[in-house]
Amino acid sequence: MRAIIPVAGVGSRLRPHTYALPKVLLNVAGKPILGHIIDKVRGEGITEATIVVGNMGEKIREYVSGAYPDFPVDYVEQEERLGLGHAIHLSEKTIGAEPILIILGDTIFDVDLAPVLQGKVSALGVKAVEDPRRFGVAEIQNGRIIRLVEKPEKPTTNLAIVGLYYIVHPRLLVECLNDLVTRDARTKGEYQLTDALQGMIDRGEMIVPFKVEGWYDCGKPETLLSTNRALLQKRSTSNAIPGVVINEPVYIAPSANLSNCIVGPNTSVGNNAEVSGCVIRNSIISEGARVQGMLLDNSIIGNGSVLTGSFKRINIGGESEIEFF
Ligand code: UTP
Repeated sequence: MRAIIPVAGVGSRLRPHTYALPKVLLNVAGKPILGHIIDKVRGEGITEATIVVGNMGEKIREYVSGAYPDFPVDYVEQEERLGLGHAIHLSEKTIGAEPILIILGDTIFDVDLAPVLQGKVSALGVKAVEDPRRFGVAEIQNGRIIRLVEKPEKPTTNLAIVGLYYIVHPRLLVECLNDLVTRDARTKGEYQLTDALQGMIDRGEMIVPFKVEGWYDCGKPETLLSTNRALLQKRSTSNAIPGVVINEPVYIAPSANLSNCIVGPNTSVGNNAEVSGCVIRNSIISEGARVQGMLLDNSIIGNGSVLTGSFKRINIGGESEIEFF
């Protein structure tokens, strides 16, 4: 089965990190977001993929071919970012009659997909959320989805569509996407995948929801950090390092060089990073970063960045109180 993974977005909410690296290559719990996604779909029996690239696509190709040399991938260029529906529309030539799985490039999932992928009906991953207005939502009747609405102002349901779409009749989806593009039917300025899926429902396609509890958003700095924390809590991997106090859970790449530090909890340190004289918690230190003499909390340090702190010289009398923020 083929997965379609759209990753052409600019990742504006994750600037400045996405000026240097596409969002899907940002590190979380020891590997790029895209690495988590590919590992997951391959573990579920996906044998090939279409990756829709745009922003810094060459870096994505380089990463995938280096990390997954035996995984067959077709790349599709989305030059203009006209929406998720448009990204899938451009993938048309790679989509056959066999079922496909569409999986968004900024979300990591922990859900057993086997029952979904073995099913004979199309299915969308959903999760009940507090504020559905930021998402596409699904209205359900008698166990099937009857209506999909993109970012509703007055939601009639709290079931958000989380970015996992199993489509058993992909040629019908292609037809509905072509229809949107031909009619230039945009919602909120973009060709929406939800509108094409609604087109499928209107033409009689049965689409059912499936619950996704393990849904880790990576779209914003705070969600990248909470995803880092959640993934580390499931799988902390660290060995003792002389001169370093480790507060689990952490991920420390074997090639990272740490000395005289207190690291963790909820901290990942990438390949070839150098960290010395630091106390770091709830943070991501990316590949090749150099951090020295810092107290860090809730921080994301990009690949190759250099951060140097210093000891303070203070001379105060008794009964004094100083707070540094
Ligand atoms: P987002 O809406 O999160 O967009 O897209 P984005 O560019 O990644 O991030 P922000 O909103 O600017 O911060 C969800 C997924 O769909 C892909 C994105 O790459 C992301 O994986 N996408 C979105 C495309 O491939 N093409 C599009 O035209 C839109």
